[in-house]
Amino acid sequence: MDKFRALVSEELSIIDDDLDSIIEQDDCIFSDLRSFLSGNSKRIRSVICLLYLKSQGINVTKKITDLLVAVELIHNASLLHDDFVDSSDLRRGVPTLFKKYGSKLSVLSGDYILSLAVKRLIMLENNGILNLFSDTVKKMSEAEITQYFSRNNEISFEKYLKIISGKTSALFSSCIKSAAVLSGIDSERAFRFGENFGILFQINNDFDSISAENDRFNGVKTAVNIIGIEKTLALKDNYKEELRQILAEIPNNAYKKGIEDLIELL
Ligand code: FPP
Ligand code: MG
Repeated sequence: MDKFRALVSEELSIIDDDLDSIIEQDDCIFSDLRSFLSGNSKRIRSVICLLYLKSQGINVTKKITDLLVAVELIHNASLLHDDFVDSSDLRRGVPTLFKKYGSKLSVLSGDYILSLAVKRLIMLENNGILNLFSDTVKKMSEAEITQYFSRNNEISFEKYLKIISGKTSALFSSCIKSAAVLSGIDSERAFRFGENFGILFQINNDFDSISAENDRFNGVKTAVNIIGIEKTLALKDNYKEELRQILAEIPNNAYKKGIEDLIELL
C-alpha cells in the first residue's frame, strides 16, 4: 500500500494534516477517538481518487482535498457505528471504541464525526455534491439495515451485491464522481469506476480473516458463502477487467500504472 500512497503523498499529507487539525480544534474529542481518526488508516478512498485524478493530469485543488477530508470523516463515522453493530473487538490492529467504551460512546462518536463531515460538505458550496452525499449516507444506512435483517438467513447473490454496493461502493462512487465534477472531467465514467472499484474492494475485504470471523459470528453471508470460492474469484476477475476497460482511454502514465497495480492486489 505504501507504494501507492507514495504516488500521492503530497496530497495525502494535506488530508492528514487537515484531519489532525479538525481533531486538535475540538476539545470534546478524547484521545482514543483522535488516534482512531489520525492513525493507521490506509486512506484507500483518498488514494484511489487521487490516483484517478492524477492519471488524467488533474491539478488537485483545495476543494478536492476538502472533499476527501469529508469522505474520510464519513467513512470513519460509519466504522464507529459498524463496529458496534458487528460487535467488533479490533479495528486497524487496535481495540475498537466499542470494545473499550461500549456501544453508547461508539455511536455518539460516530454521530459527532458525521456532523464534522456534513459541515465540510456544506463548505464546498455545491448543492449537487451535497445532495449526492446525502443520498450516499442514506444508501449506506439502508444497506446496513438490509444486512441486519438478512443475518442468519440464506440470501441471493443479487441481494448480496445490492448490500455491498450500498454499504461500500456508494461512498467510493460518490467520492470519485464529485472529485471529477470539481475537476471538470467525465463524471459518469468516474462514477462507474468508483462503483466497480468499491464492489471489488468489498468482495476482497470479505476475505480478510478478522472480517470473515466477524461475519461468521454475526451470521452475515458473503460471496464465498453464496456462490463458492471459484465463482467469487472469477467474479473478482470480471470486476478487474471492467475497471481496466474503464481506464482504457487514459494514456499510460505512472498514476494509471499505480491504479492497475492496486487493482491487481485486490
Ligand atoms: C464495514 O463493513 C462497514 C461499512 C462499509 C459501512 C457501514 C455503514 C453504516 C454503519 C451506516 C452508515 C453510517 C454512517 C454514520 C455514515 P464490514 O463490516 O463488512 O467491514 P469490516 O470487516 O471492515 O467491519
Ligand atoms: Mg464490520
